[in-house]
Amino acid sequence: MGRFLLLLTCTLVSNYLHPWRGAGAQSMFTIRDISISLEPGDNVMRGTNVTVRCEALVSSSGAGPLSREYTIYKDGVTVYTKTTSSSSDLLYRLPDARVSNTGKYKCKLNIEGRKVTSEAKKLTVTGLSTPLLHLNNAVVSEGEELTARCTAPGETGSIIFYFYDDSKEILEDRVNSNQSEVKLRFNDVGIHKMNCSYTVLVTPFFFRSDKSNSVTVSVKELSITPVLEIFPYSNIYEGDRLDIMCTVRSLMADMHGNVHLYLSRGTQLLSRGDTNVNHSMIALAKDSEEFECRLEMGNVVKVDTKKILVTELFSVPTLTMSPSEVFQKEYMTLSCKSDTFASERIRRDQLTYSLDPPESLLIPKSSGVFSGKAPVYDFNYTCIAQAKGIRKYSRPLTVRPKVTVSTPKISVVGSAVLGRPFKVLCKSDFGSLPINYTLLKDYDQLSMAIVKMPLEQALFTVTIHQPGEINKFMCEAKNSQKDAPLSKRLEAIVVVPLSHPTLTVIPVLPEIAEGDHLFLICGVKGTPPITFKWYRDDNRSPIFTTTTDMNNTDYQIQALAKDDSGTYYCEAINHAKNVVRSAPVTIVVRLALWKKAVIVGFCLLLVSVLVVVFVLCIRSKRDGVPHYDGMEGRVTNGTRASAVSLPTDTSNRSSFSIPATV
Ligand SMILES: *[C@@H]1O[C@H](CO)[C@@H](O)[C@H](O)[C@H]1NC(C)=O
Ligand SMILES: *[C@@H]1O[C@H](CO)[C@@H](O)[C@H](O)[C@H]1NC(C)=O
Ligand SMILES: *[C@@H]1O[C@H](CO)[C@@H](O)[C@H](O)[C@H]1NC(C)=O
Ligand SMILES: *[C@@H]1O[C@H](CO)[C@@H](O)[C@H](O)[C@H]1NC(C)=O
Ligand SMILES: *[C@@H]1O[C@H](CO)[C@@H](O)[C@H](O)[C@H]1NC(C)=O
Ligand SMILES: *[C@@H]1O[C@H](CO)[C@@H](O)[C@H](O)[C@H]1NC(C)=O
Ligand SMILES: *[C@@H]1O[C@H](CO)[C@@H](O)[C@H](O)[C@H]1NC(C)=O
Repeated sequence: MGRFLLLLTCTLVSNYLHPWRGAGAQSMFTIRDISISLEPGDNVMRGTNVTVRCEALVSSSGAGPLSREYTIYKDGVTVYTKTTSSSSDLLYRLPDARVSNTGKYKCKLNIEGRKVTSEAKKLTVTGLSTPLLHLNNAVVSEGEELTARCTAPGETGSIIFYFYDDSKEILEDRVNSNQSEVKLRFNDVGIHKMNCSYTVLVTPFFFRSDKSNSVTVSVKELSITPVLEIFPYSNIYEGDRLDIMCTVRSLMADMHGNVHLYLSRGTQLLSRGDTNVNHSMIALAKDSEEFECRLEMGNVVKVDTKKILVTELFSVPTLTMSPSEVFQKEYMTLSCKSDTFASERIRRDQLTYSLDPPESLLIPKSSGVFSGKAPVYDFNYTCIAQAKGIRKYSRPLTVRPKVTVSTPKISVVGSAVLGRPFKVLCKSDFGSLPINYTLLKDYDQLSMAIVKMPLEQALFTVTIHQPGEINKFMCEAKNSQKDAPLSKRLEAIVVVPLSHPTLTVIPVLPEIAEGDHLFLICGVKGTPPITFKWYRDDNRSPIFTTTTDMNNTDYQIQALAKDDSGTYYCEAINHAKNVVRSAPVTIVVRLALWKKAVIVGFCLLLVSVLVVVFVLCIRSKRDGVPHYDGMEGRVTNGTRASAVSLPTDTSNRSSFSIPATV
């Protein structure tokens, strides 16, 4: 235990001191260089004994041999490894080198985990052996199997072999060996010259060999053939009976049991049998096809083919309608006709026509002509031409009966405003398109609109100047040559645009006083409903807004105050969307009457007091100063008339009397 511990400690210490030393190593070392060389050279001929030499230069403390692990790579793949303690060069031999040895070689040396890799060296081996072709039989029957073997003598690696038959490549075979064996079969009677070649793959290159020896194989015909017979073979018409026979003609005795016959037309197998196949059928025009009698015997396949031409007895009928467009329940005629027929086989009157479905509501008029009322809905008709048991169907004809237009309705889109353009819509609920809509005014045609698509509308733009004019409009719709239905007269509310706005004030203007009940009446000419708005001074927002069905309405202020004074106006708007504004009215709220009376009374009282005081003063002065007379005389001189008239004015007197009584 103690010894093991000591050893461990030594190892740890030595590892610490000598980092290049492995755990089991006895000495220090360094790999100074490693190189690779090819002997006798880089480019050699096929068959050369090539040696890959790996030379390593290793310095060590020499305390003991090192374990060297060599790896040789060819094109990156390990091809050889060797572990040795010898310090001599590593030799990797490629005796008798082949093209497949071509590649880049590298050498790697690993000593105790320390790895050094050499540069790469490219070896090129040239020359491929000539392939050899061998056949197991020189004479074969048609369809008989033959084995062919192509050999690439001495070659190694991945090889593709090619086989040629009369210079034509017939097979390729990829193998990892020096030979390929394939099974071949010949169907062409006669002499075939065969050879082969090969390619050696050395990724990413390939090397192609010369061609092999040429080998001849003779293919003999089997004395057995299929025979196809068709009766009749020419001048065949539709409806003719065809007898087809597929038989074997043979000189061989032992063929029975493994012969099979197949009779087919195109891809359709009609019948099969062993020595003899019969088939009967009615010829149809589309049978102008190839028939095949196929014989299979083991691997041998032989065919006999024949093509027949079947003449049409009559052509496929075509169904037409007249007139080309019909309205529901209108009279129409359908005609069914085969354009051509084989007059050498049938007469025209042998060709009969009928409609499908038979209960088509149409009555035959003459051969192939059917008349009656058009259906109400879309209907598919097919006609059938028939003669000698042959039936031919026409392509279906879809009759799409048109619907007569219904009485149109006339209406205004949006609102009709007097003097402004507005739109009038004319619309029928039913009727096939296109429909011509005509706008009439007092039975005069104004304009026409053609509706071609389902969502289109017939819209007319008109302007009227009198409300009564609106009823003069009518419209008609037409989609056929028949009379066009006429709509009723246009009825709609005509919006008269607003005009003549007035703002009327009650009570009358100058007499508006505090406490009064004020009416601001806004009136316009035009069509209700009307929205009225009252504004004051320069305010942007109205003080009152209302909508009414009358052409005037009011805004009231109860118990006017002094600060209700100001400038007022009103605006009105209706469906014509034009805003009209009244002239502004300035309202000055005067003082209330009783306040005036109080003020006047107060003034009079003041005057009366002053007069009394004055009179009293005079009286007291007269008592003491005689000069008063003189003074009165002077005053009297200038104002005698008024002085005299003053007491005669009753109102003034009464005014005077008030202070007197007070
Ligand atoms: C190659 O080496 C073999 C023996 O390993 C020898 O028999 C043969 O002659 C050599 N070929 C050449 C071309 O040196
Ligand atoms: C072909 O390769 C095989 C081994 O894969 C060998 O035994 C044979 O001798 C080779 N034949 C020729 C002709 O090189
Ligand atoms: C042999 O093969 C080559 C192709 O490698 C071809 O070109 C040549 O015609 C062939 N010769 C014969 C006689 O089939
Ligand atoms: C086919 O028809 C030929 C001649 O008409 C007749 O000899 C033969 O027996 C028939 N074969 C069969 C399988 O019916
Ligand atoms: C008519 O035939 C067409 C196809 O050819 C089919 O799409 C359509 O539905 C048929 N109409 C009627 C009414 O049967
Ligand atoms: C509709 O108007 C067009 C163009 O004026 C005209 O050609 C067509 O015949 C009219 N259709 C009918 C059914 O009147
Ligand atoms: C207001 O309407 C009446 C009828 O509703 C009409 O007689 C009158 O003239 C209209 N006044 C104005 C100013 O348009």
